[in-house]
Amino acid sequence: MNILVTGAAGFIGSHTVERLLGLGHTVYGLDNFSPYYDIDLKKMNVSAIKKAGAHFIEADLRTDDLSKYLPSTLDFVFHFAAHPGISASSTFKDYVSNNILATQRLLDYIETKSRRPFFANIATSSIYGLEATLTENEVPLPASWYGVTKLAAEQLVLAYARRGFFKGCSLRLYSVYGPRERPDKLYTRLIACVLQNKPFTLFNGSEKHLRSFTYVQDIIDGIVSVIGNEEVCNTQIFNLGTEEENTTATGIETVEKLLNTTIDILPHPARPGDQSRTKANIDKARRVLNYNPTTGLEEGLKAQIEWYKGRFL
Ligand SMILES: NC(=O)c1ccc[n+]([C@@H]2O[C@H](COP(=O)([O-])OP(=O)(O)OC[C@H]3O[C@@H](n4cnc5c(N)ncnc54)[C@H](O)[C@@H]3O)[C@@H](O)[C@H]2O)c1
Repeated sequence: MNILVTGAAGFIGSHTVERLLGLGHTVYGLDNFSPYYDIDLKKMNVSAIKKAGAHFIEADLRTDDLSKYLPSTLDFVFHFAAHPGISASSTFKDYVSNNILATQRLLDYIETKSRRPFFANIATSSIYGLEATLTENEVPLPASWYGVTKLAAEQLVLAYARRGFFKGCSLRLYSVYGPRERPDKLYTRLIACVLQNKPFTLFNGSEKHLRSFTYVQDIIDGIVSVIGNEEVCNTQIFNLGTEEENTTATGIETVEKLLNTTIDILPHPARPGDQSRTKANIDKARRVLNYNPTTGLEEGLKAQIEWYKGRFL
C-alpha cells in the first residue's frame, strides 16, 4: 500500500515509518522540521528512515501545496504532525496552527481525491485532561492548549469520517518513551542529565504523578493494527498505552538503577495543565484490535539508554 506518515522526522512518526516499511508498504514521510526542538535530531531520524527505504518530503502542512509532493493515490494516512507537549515557550498560535489548521489543510487535500485513503489520526491522553483514566466514551476535559487543539484536530478528522468522506479513526496515545524520545520529555532529559553530569530539573509535585509510560514499539503495535481493521475502526477512538502505572519518582529511580547513579534534583515551578495521572483504559483496543502492550519500564528504559549512548556519546 501507499502510505503517508506526517511528522515522519519526529519521535513516534519515524519509528512508525520503519515499521510500515518492514511490513512491505511504500511509505512517504512528510515533515517541516519544526523548530520545537533541535532540528539536527529530526535530520538524524530522517537519515534513518531514508536508509530504510522511505520517500521523504520536506513540506509544511499549513502552507505547502501537497499535490506537488504526494503520489496520486494514497491508501492510508497516519497523521502524527503536531505541536506536541506542554511548553512555556510555545504560543497559542503554535498549537492552533500546527494542530488544527495543519490537519484541516491535509483534510482539504484528501477531499480533492476521488479515491480517499483511510485516515488514522494520532491523538493524545491530554485530551482527557488532568486525570486521563477514562474510556473513549467519556467526556474529554482537556486542561492545556495542547489538549484542546488535539481534541479539535481529532474531532475534525472524525467529522469527515462520520460524513462518509473517507474512513478514519483516532488513536489516543499515552506517555510514549523509548529510543528517539523528544529531548523535552522525561526520560531523554533524565538520561542526558546523568550522562552529562548535570542536575535534573523536576517540576514541583511531578514526582507523585502517575503515568502509563508506554514503550514506543508497543504503541506502534497498536497503531499499525488498524491496517486490515478499517471497517471496524471507522469513526472510532481507541486508547493505546500500557495499563501499568508508574510514578515519575519510580521512573527516576529506574534510570538511577540502570545507570548506577544518584540524580541531583533541581526543583522547578509546576507546569500549568500538567496531568496528575494517566492510566490507559485499553479494554476497547484489546477487544477490537487484539492490542496487548508487553514491555516493562525497566526493559524499555534499557533500550532507550543504549540508544542514547550509541547516538550521543
Ligand atoms: N510523545 C508522546 O508521548 C505522545 C503522547 C501522546 C500523543 N502524542 C502525539 O504523537 C504525535 C507525535 O509526537 P512526537 O512525540 O513524536 O513529537 P515530535 O515533535 O517528535 O513529532 C512531530 C513532528 O511533526 C512535525 N510537524 C509539526 N508541525 C508540522 C507541520 N505544520 N507540517 C509538517 N510537519 C510538522 C515536527 O517537525 C515533528 O518532527 C503528535 O501528534 C503527538 O501529539 C505523542
